[in-house]
Amino acid sequence: MSKVSIIGAGFVGSTVAHWAMIAGGCQIILVDVVDGLAKGKVLDLIQAGPIAGHAIDAVGTTDMAETANSDIVIITAGVARKPGMTREDLVSINAGIVGGVVKEVIKYSPNCTIIMMTNPLDTMTYLAYKLSGFPRERVIGQAGVLDGGRMKTFIAMETGLDPENIHTTVLGGHGDEMVPLVRFSSIGGIPLSSFLTPEQIDRIIARTRDGGAEIVRYLKTGSAYYAPGASACKMAQAIAKNQHHIYPASVFLQGEYGLTDICFGVPVILGKNGVERIIELDLNDEEKAALKRSADLIRSTMAALKF
Ligand code: APR
Repeated sequence: MSKVSIIGAGFVGSTVAHWAMIAGGCQIILVDVVDGLAKGKVLDLIQAGPIAGHAIDAVGTTDMAETANSDIVIITAGVARKPGMTREDLVSINAGIVGGVVKEVIKYSPNCTIIMMTNPLDTMTYLAYKLSGFPRERVIGQAGVLDGGRMKTFIAMETGLDPENIHTTVLGGHGDEMVPLVRFSSIGGIPLSSFLTPEQIDRIIARTRDGGAEIVRYLKTGSAYYAPGASACKMAQAIAKNQHHIYPASVFLQGEYGLTDICFGVPVILGKNGVERIIELDLNDEEKAALKRSADLIRSTMAALKF
């Protein structure tokens, strides 16, 4: 059974715990600095187990020592954005929080795989990679699963077709310049253009890019958590069960896609060693230019980091 620690028991962290307990097969440690928060949420979650029929193997705590020897650590600690804010606006406050958390994570679980969820995602993944000293295979940012899931949803809404039939690929940074790749998306293996007009596809791309902000505008006091939580849970499962599943994820690049010294969303194979392989797609000039714009936005955010 894998030990999975989730740092931050706010909306995202507690929802990851919920999805993970539904999936089963792991022991959950939920940690938050706020006294009683993780403990209270875990008590509620485990009491749901016998009712909903899911696992109850979970602990809530303020003590990072309880995370010792985790196989996977999912970091959600940090503030969420409010209406009018971009994910990039969170960089200075969340860098301080994530920096402190990473130091504790590597102290107690030197062999774990880190899944980053705190925004701005690619910059926080980069920070965790640099501070941890872990190999790049074990520091992975969650973004593309969520963005791709949103794109699937909007395609299903537009076509009326089964979402399970829909495959999407969204690469690049988890920001307004993310890159939904139409050529690498399909429905039942058939190109999107067989089902959707160019105007419909443009609309879907725009709504995918704005997917997080649309929710923030409705919620007013925070950001999304059900779909982000489900996304992190899928990635953790792929690692814990050595699934060799291809997901887009933010990883440290060393020349792939012409990029170096940046964490960036690319297709990866996830298995027991974390990132088993980075897959390089054969992109056309337009797609390459879109990825470059996305990388430029991340680099401007990274400039605010101090080590
Ligand atoms: N250790 C543990 N928990 C911490 C720490 C820390 N050092 N610092 C802050 N936290 C906790 C807060 O106490 C809070 O409970 O992180 C939690 C964050 O929860 P929310 O405010 O509900 O934010 P949430 O919606 O969960 O988003 C968290 O995920 O998707 C991203 O953009 C989002 O960066 C944000 C993060």
